[in-house]
Amino acid sequence: MGSRASAPGKTILFGEHAVVYGKPAIALAIDKRATITIRESHKDYTRIKSDDLHLEAILTPETGLKLKKGEIGILNYILKALEFYHDSTPLKIKLEIGIPIGAGLGSSAAVTVATIAALDKYHERKTTLTSIAKRAHRVELEVQGAASPLDTSTSTHGGLIYLDKEKMDQIKGDLKDSLVIGYTRSEDTAKMVKLVKERMKRHPKIMNLIMDTIAHITRKARKTLEINDKERLGELMNINQGLLDAIGVNTQSLSEMIYTSREAGALGSKITGAGGGGSIIAYSPNRTRQILETLTDRGYNAMKADPSTKGVLT
Ligand code: MEV
Repeated sequence: MGSRASAPGKTILFGEHAVVYGKPAIALAIDKRATITIRESHKDYTRIKSDDLHLEAILTPETGLKLKKGEIGILNYILKALEFYHDSTPLKIKLEIGIPIGAGLGSSAAVTVATIAALDKYHERKTTLTSIAKRAHRVELEVQGAASPLDTSTSTHGGLIYLDKEKMDQIKGDLKDSLVIGYTRSEDTAKMVKLVKERMKRHPKIMNLIMDTIAHITRKARKTLEINDKERLGELMNINQGLLDAIGVNTQSLSEMIYTSREAGALGSKITGAGGGGSIIAYSPNRTRQILETLTDRGYNAMKADPSTKGVLT
């Protein structure tokens, strides 16, 4: 008996961090996926393996987890999903992943969503996208200590997502051949969320005004995407970036990537995700090749990201 499920990574276009304070955000599922394959095992332990990540671990109810190869990182999400949504029968679990890890591109959400969907299928449980998204968010919260439902909702449903508190809409927007992502290894999301929270405590009035302004930008961006006003969309990204800097999540290397992409013709570029390392997104319809080349020539990791209308697939 076996099952398989895959789910996409994501990039946040507007509203990261502000979403943690109940403000709206816009995220896009991208064409890079995580795939989980589950098979029954005749051994007395569960084996989790990923050739892509050079990772192998053995799990037994008696001795717990033994890491044979690689880092625990993303395994935590698989382990928590197993704890919540599986019994203790031994499994063979394979993870294939085309999303850079720890770069703010939703790799943990994609792995969590794919694991839950594969487990549902393995156990022949009837499920819905809403239920998968909700349970994936629960897993992220447990592992990270803090997380909005943005990443897990986007990975589950696919497409362009506008999340406002618990309400999620799939919205229109033409982002094909328009996006380049530059990435470095990030600080972890929980740490960056905590850092913003501390600044919030020290400067509540200022920080609340900034979060409200980011919310305005995000609402405006939704309309701008719907009418496909490219120039304005780029401007809004740049304004959002200024405020991400103000709340303390920018770094020198992110700034360098942002200004490098603007110089190379991006209409807009900003941090995407938690910041503190991580990723930037550059928006430039039809000039993605030039931006990609400029970023890589200057020694940065970069890739083109196209939208994925497909969320979780089994
Ligand atoms: C992380 O991808 C985005 C943040 O807004 C945190 C969250 O929404 O959970 C920084």
